[in-house]
Amino acid sequence: MNKLDSNLVANSFAQAGFDLVDSPIDADVVLVNTCSVRGHAEERVMSLLGHLKHIKKTRKELVVAVFGCMAQRCKDALLKHEVVNIVCGPLQIPELVNLVNNALDHTKKQKSVSENIRHKPLPQDLVGLDDFEQNNDSAENSLPAQAFVRVMHGCDNFCSYCVVPYVRGPEVSRPPEKIIEQIKKLADTGAKQITLLGQTVNSYSYNGASFADLLYDVSKIDGIEWIKFVTCYPKNFDERIFQAMVDLPKVCRYLHIPAQSGSDRILKAMNRHYTADEYLAILDRARQIVPDIAIAGDFIVGFCGETDEDFQKSAELIRKAQYKNSFIFKYSTRPGTRADEKLIDDVPMEIKKQRNIELLAVQEKVSEEWNKSFIGKTVKVLVEGVSKKSHLDGVDNEKLPQLIGRTAGDCIVVFDGAADLAGGFADVKITRASALTLFGQAAD
Ligand code: 5AD
Ligand code: SF4
Repeated sequence: MNKLDSNLVANSFAQAGFDLVDSPIDADVVLVNTCSVRGHAEERVMSLLGHLKHIKKTRKELVVAVFGCMAQRCKDALLKHEVVNIVCGPLQIPELVNLVNNALDHTKKQKSVSENIRHKPLPQDLVGLDDFEQNNDSAENSLPAQAFVRVMHGCDNFCSYCVVPYVRGPEVSRPPEKIIEQIKKLADTGAKQITLLGQTVNSYSYNGASFADLLYDVSKIDGIEWIKFVTCYPKNFDERIFQAMVDLPKVCRYLHIPAQSGSDRILKAMNRHYTADEYLAILDRARQIVPDIAIAGDFIVGFCGETDEDFQKSAELIRKAQYKNSFIFKYSTRPGTRADEKLIDDVPMEIKKQRNIELLAVQEKVSEEWNKSFIGKTVKVLVEGVSKKSHLDGVDNEKLPQLIGRTAGDCIVVFDGAADLAGGFADVKITRASALTLFGQAAD
């Protein structure tokens, strides 16, 4: 979601005549996109602002705009920071160009955020944001031939640890016709893969149209070859989404479905509204309908009150779920959330770190098994570009560059090939696999 917002903002500035430079040292304007999901992300923003202070000492006219979730969360506290000229919430990003132009004209600080973020916006309130997304989305920004498209804003789930409902506001689905129009435009400008974005895409709903309906419609768009989506909430799962994966060759057989914990007690404290068994039942249905589906999860370790026994249940769930990979996070208390207000962050950091390492090791074993099953097979990848990492066998990447690509099931593949394959599809025969990467040769 943040990558998309950064791309949209960058494009809106390019359209307004600004040039992108590589370093804040060369910039007249620094735009800082921010994330509030964990404390660490916010600390990094504060240290960046500290760094900008040194640059601004010699160039007082430098304009610094902070936008995104942290801008919405911290509002005036951020505006008071000595280097900050502009604070702009995630729903106000269409205003950024104007705010910056004002700041370039005079030095007064400006703020545009939602004053009552949980106030449900009327459809007309979101027209500006829709048009902004429509006009500034592009298949050029992130990886070649790939684009993100938001299908919904915000979230109404209020998981007790999570700041998102308080910074991105209520859940609102975008009109399907706007989404389709945007994707058609992206396809015309070279997008081959679209990733549909939302905090809980499986609860997408617009005038009776469900997310599965949207998949069938997006699938009809010429030029788009792969459709991915993130992320899903493991409750009221519409099985037609799995059926769409079977019916529609363009819909990738990949499901990111965060569990967060394997302990029912902790899931309750997290306000997740399902048990570990109910969660596993969704995965079972997914695999019955789509046998080769790749499943990925998210986990939080060290949530309030998590005992070693609770933690072991998360390890058990990873083994049972047979994820291709999991994203694992140490619990970070977020001001204003229910966990922050009602529960005690009582797991010491040392234990959180240990549990994080332990859970990653459990997942690594499972991922290795998953990846090994591809050895000897030929997989189709969308090529992202030249791999930045050295070869597994130690060959210098500068002398013999390799390409990196991703399968429809989200496996990372490193293989030999010409750099101009970037943005295209390639068939790769897999010869070796680690927990994180598949290695192979372009198939004839
Ligand atoms: N602390 C740690 N991890 C968090 N996540 C969300 N909120 C927190 C928090 N307060 C994780 C969840 C979510 C992912 C995007 O970030 O696992 O799925
Ligand atoms: Fe946060 Fe829960 Fe909403 Fe995901 S579903 S964004 S974890 S509140």
